[in-house]
Amino acid sequence: MKEIYFYTPTKIYFERGSILKYLPLVKNYGKKVLIVSGKNFIYKSGLFEKIKNIFEKEKIDFSIFSNVKPEPDIENVEEGVEFCIKENCDIIVAIGGGSALDVGKCIALRVKNNGNLKNYFGEANLKNEPLPIIAIPTTCGTGSEVTRYAVIIDKNENTKKTIASEKIMPILTLLDPDVLDYLPPKLTGATGMDAFCHSAESYLATTADYMSKLFAIESLKLLSENLKKAIEGDKEAKEKIFLASTLAGYAINKTGTIIVHGIGYSLTIKYGTHHGTANALFLPYVLEFMKENGYVEEIKEMEKTIGNTSELKNFISKIGLPVKLREIGAEERDIEELVELSIKGCERAMKRMKFVLNKESFLKIITSAF
Ligand SMILES: [Fe+2]
Repeated sequence: MKEIYFYTPTKIYFERGSILKYLPLVKNYGKKVLIVSGKNFIYKSGLFEKIKNIFEKEKIDFSIFSNVKPEPDIENVEEGVEFCIKENCDIIVAIGGGSALDVGKCIALRVKNNGNLKNYFGEANLKNEPLPIIAIPTTCGTGSEVTRYAVIIDKNENTKKTIASEKIMPILTLLDPDVLDYLPPKLTGATGMDAFCHSAESYLATTADYMSKLFAIESLKLLSENLKKAIEGDKEAKEKIFLASTLAGYAINKTGTIIVHGIGYSLTIKYGTHHGTANALFLPYVLEFMKENGYVEEIKEMEKTIGNTSELKNFISKIGLPVKLREIGAEERDIEELVELSIKGCERAMKRMKFVLNKESFLKIITSAF
Protein backbone atom coordinates (compact mmCIF):
# COMPACT_ATOMS: atom_id res chain seq x y z
CA MET A 1 0.00 0.00 0.00
CA LYS A 2 1.13 3.52 -0.76
CA GLU A 3 2.55 5.45 2.19
CA ILE A 4 0.18 7.77 4.11
CA TYR A 5 0.91 11.11 5.71
CA PHE A 6 -1.61 13.01 7.80
CA TYR A 7 -0.99 15.88 10.17
CA THR A 8 -3.22 18.49 11.73
CA PRO A 9 -2.62 20.79 14.68
CA THR A 10 -6.07 22.39 14.26
CA LYS A 11 -8.65 22.08 16.99
CA ILE A 12 -12.07 22.21 15.31
CA TYR A 13 -15.51 23.02 16.60
CA PHE A 14 -18.28 22.48 14.08
CA GLU A 15 -21.62 23.55 15.55
CA ARG A 16 -24.21 26.29 15.38
CA GLY A 17 -23.26 28.99 17.85
CA SER A 18 -19.63 27.89 18.05
CA ILE A 19 -18.35 31.46 17.64
CA LEU A 20 -20.18 32.61 20.73
CA LYS A 21 -19.27 29.50 22.67
CA TYR A 22 -15.61 29.02 21.77
CA LEU A 23 -14.19 32.38 20.70
CA PRO A 24 -13.30 33.20 24.33
CA LEU A 25 -10.65 30.44 23.96
CA VAL A 26 -8.43 32.97 22.15
CA LYS A 27 -7.37 34.13 25.61
CA ASN A 28 -5.25 31.00 25.82
CA TYR A 29 -3.08 32.06 22.92
CA GLY A 30 -1.94 35.63 23.58
CA LYS A 31 -2.77 39.09 24.86
CA LYS A 32 -4.17 41.10 21.97
CA VAL A 33 -6.16 39.93 18.97
CA LEU A 34 -5.87 41.24 15.44
CA ILE A 35 -9.11 40.52 13.56
CA VAL A 36 -8.31 40.13 9.86
CA SER A 37 -11.21 40.45 7.44
CA GLY A 38 -12.57 41.98 4.26
CA LYS A 39 -14.28 45.36 4.16
CA ASN A 40 -17.95 44.47 3.96
CA PHE A 41 -19.22 41.08 5.03
CA ILE A 42 -18.06 41.25 8.64
CA TYR A 43 -20.03 44.47 9.21
CA LYS A 44 -23.10 43.79 7.06
CA SER A 45 -23.60 40.33 8.54
CA GLY A 46 -23.47 41.68 12.10
CA LEU A 47 -20.50 39.41 12.81
CA PHE A 48 -18.28 42.28 13.91
CA GLU A 49 -20.83 43.44 16.52
CA LYS A 50 -21.19 39.89 17.76
CA ILE A 51 -17.44 39.38 18.08
CA LYS A 52 -16.89 42.79 19.61
CA ASN A 53 -19.47 41.96 22.29
CA ILE A 54 -17.75 38.65 23.06
CA PHE A 55 -14.34 40.32 23.34
CA GLU A 56 -15.65 43.15 25.51
CA LYS A 57 -17.46 40.72 27.79
CA GLU A 58 -14.37 38.54 28.11
CA LYS A 59 -12.06 41.58 28.42
CA ILE A 60 -10.05 40.57 25.38
CA ASP A 61 -8.11 43.44 23.83
CA PHE A 62 -8.34 43.66 20.03
CA SER A 63 -7.83 45.67 16.85
CA ILE A 64 -9.25 45.09 13.40
CA PHE A 65 -7.59 45.08 10.00
CA SER A 66 -10.61 44.96 7.69
CA ASN A 67 -8.81 45.91 4.54
CA VAL A 68 -8.29 42.51 2.92
CA LYS A 69 -8.93 42.76 -0.82
CA PRO A 70 -10.98 40.11 -2.65
CA GLU A 71 -7.81 39.01 -4.48
CA PRO A 72 -5.10 39.98 -2.00
CA ASP A 73 -1.57 40.77 -3.14
CA ILE A 74 1.78 41.09 -1.37
CA GLU A 75 1.24 44.81 -0.69
CA ASN A 76 -2.08 44.05 0.97
CA VAL A 77 -0.39 41.58 3.32
CA GLU A 78 2.47 43.96 4.12
CA GLU A 79 -0.08 46.67 5.00
CA GLY A 80 -1.61 44.23 7.50
CA VAL A 81 1.82 43.34 8.89
CA GLU A 82 2.59 46.98 9.56
CA PHE A 83 -0.77 47.47 11.26
CA CYS A 84 -0.34 44.34 13.39
CA ILE A 85 3.08 45.49 14.61
CA LYS A 86 1.83 49.03 15.28
CA GLU A 87 -1.13 47.68 17.27
CA ASN A 88 1.07 45.24 19.15
CA CYS A 89 -1.21 42.25 18.44
CA ASP A 90 -0.04 38.71 19.13
CA ILE A 91 -3.01 36.56 18.02
CA ILE A 92 -4.59 36.51 14.57
CA VAL A 93 -8.33 35.87 14.24
CA ALA A 94 -8.99 35.61 10.50
CA ILE A 95 -12.65 35.84 9.51
CA GLY A 96 -14.01 35.45 6.00
CA GLY A 97 -13.38 33.52 2.82
CA GLY A 98 -10.06 32.26 1.51
CA SER A 99 -8.68 35.77 1.02
CA ALA A 100 -9.08 36.84 4.64
CA LEU A 101 -7.88 33.50 5.98
CA ASP A 102 -4.82 33.49 3.72
CA VAL A 103 -3.92 37.11 4.51
CA GLY A 104 -4.31 36.28 8.21
CA LYS A 105 -1.86 33.41 7.82
CA CYS A 106 0.62 35.60 5.95
CA ILE A 107 0.45 38.38 8.53
CA ALA A 108 1.05 35.81 11.29
CA LEU A 109 4.07 34.50 9.41
CA ARG A 110 5.58 37.85 8.43
CA VAL A 111 5.24 39.57 11.82
CA LYS A 112 7.57 36.92 13.21
CA ASN A 113 9.83 36.48 10.18
CA ASN A 114 11.77 39.32 8.57
CA GLY A 115 11.95 40.40 4.96
CA ASN A 116 9.25 40.56 2.35
CA LEU A 117 6.48 37.98 1.91
CA LYS A 118 8.12 37.09 -1.42
CA ASN A 119 10.98 35.38 0.42
CA TYR A 120 8.53 32.76 1.67
CA PHE A 121 6.84 31.69 -1.58
CA GLY A 122 6.86 27.96 -2.14
CA GLU A 123 7.82 25.68 0.76
CA ALA A 124 8.51 28.37 3.33
CA ASN A 125 11.58 28.04 5.45
CA LEU A 126 10.52 29.80 8.66
CA LYS A 127 13.04 30.63 11.35
CA ASN A 128 10.39 31.65 13.84
CA GLU A 129 6.96 30.32 14.79
CA PRO A 130 4.23 32.54 13.28
CA LEU A 131 1.65 34.15 15.57
CA PRO A 132 -1.15 31.76 16.55
CA ILE A 133 -3.91 31.73 13.91
CA ILE A 134 -7.59 31.26 14.63
CA ALA A 135 -9.79 30.76 11.56
CA ILE A 136 -13.48 31.53 11.23
CA PRO A 137 -14.56 30.69 7.68
CA THR A 138 -17.68 32.41 6.36
CA THR A 139 -17.83 30.73 2.94
CA CYS A 140 -17.98 27.09 1.99
CA GLY A 141 -15.06 26.78 -0.35
CA THR A 142 -11.63 27.69 0.85
CA GLY A 143 -10.56 24.85 3.12
CA SER A 144 -7.83 27.24 4.26
CA GLU A 145 -9.06 26.77 7.84
CA VAL A 146 -7.26 23.41 7.94
CA THR A 147 -4.53 23.75 5.34
CA ARG A 148 -0.87 24.69 5.35
CA TYR A 149 -1.34 26.98 2.35
CA ALA A 150 -1.85 30.66 1.71
CA VAL A 151 -2.36 31.98 -1.82
CA ILE A 152 -1.37 35.55 -2.66
CA ILE A 153 -1.11 37.52 -5.90
CA ASP A 154 2.31 38.63 -7.05
CA LYS A 155 1.51 41.68 -9.20
CA ASN A 156 5.02 41.89 -10.61
CA GLU A 157 4.84 38.39 -12.00
CA ASN A 158 1.12 38.62 -12.77
CA THR A 159 0.39 35.31 -11.09
CA LYS A 160 -0.85 33.74 -7.86
CA LYS A 161 1.79 32.37 -5.54
CA THR A 162 1.44 29.80 -2.79
CA ILE A 163 3.14 29.79 0.57
CA ALA A 164 3.23 26.37 2.17
CA SER A 165 4.19 25.54 5.74
CA GLU A 166 2.68 23.43 8.50
CA LYS A 167 3.52 26.33 10.79
CA ILE A 168 0.76 28.48 9.26
CA MET A 169 -1.98 25.95 9.94
CA PRO A 170 -4.59 27.44 12.29
CA ILE A 171 -4.52 26.22 15.86
CA LEU A 172 -8.24 26.71 16.23
CA THR A 173 -11.05 26.73 13.66
CA LEU A 174 -14.62 27.64 14.47
CA LEU A 175 -17.11 26.36 11.91
CA ASP A 176 -20.40 27.99 12.78
CA PRO A 177 -22.98 27.19 10.09
CA ASP A 178 -25.00 30.22 11.22
CA VAL A 179 -22.59 32.43 9.24
CA LEU A 180 -23.83 30.89 6.00
CA ASP A 181 -27.20 32.59 6.50
CA TYR A 182 -25.58 35.75 5.18
CA LEU A 183 -23.79 34.17 2.23
CA PRO A 184 -25.61 35.07 -1.03
CA PRO A 185 -26.72 32.04 -3.14
CA LYS A 186 -24.33 32.95 -5.94
CA LEU A 187 -21.33 32.93 -3.61
CA THR A 188 -22.56 29.75 -1.96
CA GLY A 189 -22.49 28.16 -5.41
CA ALA A 190 -19.12 29.57 -6.44
CA THR A 191 -17.34 28.75 -3.19
CA GLY A 192 -19.04 25.35 -3.03
CA MET A 193 -17.70 24.58 -6.50
CA ASP A 194 -14.25 25.67 -5.37
CA ALA A 195 -14.44 22.98 -2.68
CA PHE A 196 -15.74 20.56 -5.32
CA CYS A 197 -12.65 21.26 -7.45
CA HIS A 198 -10.35 20.90 -4.45
CA SER A 199 -11.67 17.40 -3.88
CA ALA A 200 -11.78 16.34 -7.53
CA GLU A 201 -8.25 17.60 -8.18
CA SER A 202 -6.94 16.15 -4.94
CA TYR A 203 -8.41 12.76 -5.82
CA LEU A 204 -6.57 12.76 -9.16
CA ALA A 205 -3.25 14.10 -7.90
CA THR A 206 -0.31 11.71 -7.90
CA THR A 207 0.28 12.84 -4.31
CA ALA A 208 -3.08 11.42 -3.15
CA ASP A 209 -3.08 8.67 -0.55
CA TYR A 210 -5.71 6.51 1.14
CA MET A 211 -6.61 9.20 3.70
CA SER A 212 -6.75 12.14 1.31
CA LYS A 213 -8.97 10.13 -1.05
CA LEU A 214 -11.37 9.35 1.80
CA PHE A 215 -11.76 13.06 2.49
CA ALA A 216 -12.03 13.90 -1.21
CA ILE A 217 -14.71 11.36 -2.07
CA GLU A 218 -16.82 12.09 1.02
CA SER A 219 -16.63 15.79 0.27
CA LEU A 220 -17.64 15.23 -3.39
CA LYS A 221 -20.58 13.12 -2.23
CA LEU A 222 -21.80 15.81 0.18
CA LEU A 223 -21.40 18.54 -2.44
CA SER A 224 -23.09 16.58 -5.24
CA GLU A 225 -26.07 15.83 -3.03
CA ASN A 226 -26.40 19.16 -1.27
CA LEU A 227 -25.00 22.12 -3.18
CA LYS A 228 -28.14 22.86 -5.18
CA LYS A 229 -30.37 22.46 -2.11
CA ALA A 230 -28.03 24.73 -0.15
CA ILE A 231 -28.35 27.47 -2.74
CA GLU A 232 -32.11 27.16 -2.49
CA GLY A 233 -31.78 27.88 1.23
CA ASP A 234 -31.99 24.42 2.81
CA LYS A 235 -30.25 24.82 6.19
CA GLU A 236 -29.19 21.22 6.62
CA ALA A 237 -27.78 21.15 3.09
CA LYS A 238 -25.79 24.29 3.90
CA GLU A 239 -24.31 22.59 6.95
CA LYS A 240 -23.27 19.65 4.81
CA ILE A 241 -21.51 21.74 2.19
CA PHE A 242 -19.80 23.72 4.93
CA LEU A 243 -18.44 20.44 6.26
CA ALA A 244 -17.60 19.26 2.73
CA SER A 245 -15.46 22.33 2.24
CA THR A 246 -13.38 21.54 5.32
CA LEU A 247 -13.05 17.89 4.27
CA ALA A 248 -11.80 19.11 0.88
CA GLY A 249 -9.30 21.23 2.79
CA TYR A 250 -7.92 18.12 4.50
CA ALA A 251 -7.67 16.43 1.11
CA ILE A 252 -5.69 19.22 -0.59
CA ASN A 253 -3.59 19.73 2.48
CA LYS A 254 -1.96 16.40 1.61
CA THR A 255 -2.07 16.58 -2.16
CA GLY A 256 -2.26 20.17 -3.38
CA THR A 257 -4.50 20.94 -6.35
CA ILE A 258 -3.75 20.11 -9.97
CA ILE A 259 -4.35 21.90 -13.26
CA VAL A 260 -7.96 23.03 -12.80
CA HIS A 261 -6.80 25.61 -10.27
CA GLY A 262 -3.75 26.43 -12.38
CA ILE A 263 -5.90 27.15 -15.42
CA GLY A 264 -8.64 28.81 -13.37
CA TYR A 265 -6.12 31.41 -12.16
CA SER A 266 -5.92 32.75 -15.73
CA LEU A 267 -9.56 33.90 -15.60
CA THR A 268 -9.15 35.55 -12.22
CA ILE A 269 -6.08 37.41 -13.42
CA LYS A 270 -7.48 38.37 -16.84
CA TYR A 271 -11.14 39.12 -16.00
CA GLY A 272 -11.31 39.14 -12.20
CA THR A 273 -13.56 36.06 -12.32
CA HIS A 274 -14.36 34.61 -8.88
CA HIS A 275 -11.89 31.85 -7.99
CA GLY A 276 -14.58 29.18 -7.55
CA THR A 277 -16.46 30.21 -10.71
CA ALA A 278 -13.25 30.06 -12.74
CA ASN A 279 -12.34 26.59 -11.48
CA ALA A 280 -15.86 25.23 -11.95
CA LEU A 281 -15.86 26.41 -15.55
CA PHE A 282 -12.73 24.45 -16.44
CA LEU A 283 -13.32 21.32 -14.35
CA PRO A 284 -15.40 19.34 -16.90
CA TYR A 285 -13.01 20.16 -19.77
CA VAL A 286 -9.94 19.21 -17.75
CA LEU A 287 -11.60 15.93 -16.76
CA GLU A 288 -12.46 15.21 -20.41
CA PHE A 289 -8.87 15.89 -21.40
CA MET A 290 -7.41 13.79 -18.59
CA LYS A 291 -9.74 10.91 -19.34
CA GLU A 292 -8.31 10.80 -22.87
CA ASN A 293 -4.77 11.06 -21.52
CA GLY A 294 -4.03 8.35 -19.01
CA TYR A 295 -6.56 8.94 -16.23
CA VAL A 296 -9.41 6.66 -17.41
CA GLU A 297 -9.53 4.46 -14.32
CA GLU A 298 -9.33 7.24 -11.74
CA ILE A 299 -11.95 9.37 -13.45
CA LYS A 300 -14.30 6.45 -13.95
CA GLU A 301 -14.02 5.76 -10.23
CA MET A 302 -14.74 9.39 -9.36
CA GLU A 303 -17.68 9.52 -11.79
CA LYS A 304 -19.47 6.98 -9.59
CA THR A 305 -19.85 9.87 -7.12
CA ILE A 306 -20.08 12.97 -9.32
CA GLY A 307 -21.53 11.63 -12.60
CA ASN A 308 -19.96 11.97 -16.04
CA THR A 309 -18.73 15.26 -17.50
CA SER A 310 -21.97 16.15 -19.29
CA GLU A 311 -23.89 15.54 -16.05
CA LEU A 312 -21.29 17.68 -14.30
CA LYS A 313 -21.80 20.57 -16.76
CA ASN A 314 -25.51 20.29 -16.11
CA PHE A 315 -24.91 20.37 -12.37
CA ILE A 316 -22.73 23.49 -12.66
CA SER A 317 -25.32 25.22 -14.87
CA LYS A 318 -28.10 24.45 -12.42
CA ILE A 319 -26.08 26.09 -9.69
CA GLY A 320 -26.10 29.19 -11.84
CA LEU A 321 -22.43 29.20 -12.85
CA PRO A 322 -21.05 29.50 -16.39
CA VAL A 323 -19.85 26.41 -18.25
CA LYS A 324 -18.48 28.21 -21.30
CA LEU A 325 -15.83 30.92 -21.55
CA ARG A 326 -18.16 32.99 -23.75
CA GLU A 327 -20.55 33.30 -20.82
CA ILE A 328 -18.01 35.33 -18.85
CA GLY A 329 -17.36 37.62 -21.79
CA ALA A 330 -14.13 36.02 -23.02
CA GLU A 331 -13.32 36.53 -26.69
CA GLU A 332 -11.58 34.20 -29.07
CA ARG A 333 -8.61 36.53 -29.36
CA ASP A 334 -8.02 36.13 -25.58
CA ILE A 335 -7.28 32.42 -25.87
CA GLU A 336 -3.56 32.83 -26.55
CA GLU A 337 -3.13 34.96 -23.42
CA LEU A 338 -5.18 32.54 -21.32
CA VAL A 339 -2.92 29.72 -22.48
CA GLU A 340 0.19 31.66 -21.44
CA LEU A 341 -1.31 32.54 -18.04
CA SER A 342 -2.36 28.92 -17.53
CA ILE A 343 1.11 27.58 -18.27
CA LYS A 344 2.47 29.92 -15.62
CA GLY A 345 -0.33 29.06 -13.19
CA CYS A 346 0.23 25.31 -13.57
CA GLU A 347 3.97 25.23 -12.94
CA ARG A 348 3.70 23.65 -9.51
CA ALA A 349 0.53 21.68 -10.23
CA MET A 350 2.25 19.84 -13.05
CA LYS A 351 4.46 18.08 -10.51
CA ARG A 352 1.36 16.31 -9.23
CA MET A 353 0.30 15.03 -12.64
CA LYS A 354 1.26 11.81 -14.41
CA PHE A 355 2.54 13.85 -17.36
CA VAL A 356 3.59 17.38 -18.22
CA LEU A 357 1.15 19.26 -20.43
CA ASN A 358 2.55 21.10 -23.41
CA LYS A 359 1.20 24.30 -24.94
CA GLU A 360 -1.04 22.36 -27.34
CA SER A 361 -2.67 20.57 -24.40
CA PHE A 362 -3.55 23.86 -22.71
CA LEU A 363 -4.81 25.22 -26.01
CA LYS A 364 -7.00 22.16 -26.44
CA ILE A 365 -8.55 22.47 -22.98
CA ILE A 366 -9.13 26.21 -23.20
CA THR A 367 -10.52 26.06 -26.74
CA SER A 368 -12.96 23.33 -25.74
CA ALA A 369 -14.10 25.52 -22.83
CA PHE A 370 -14.60 28.38 -25.24
FE1 LIG B 1 -9.55 26.92 -4.50
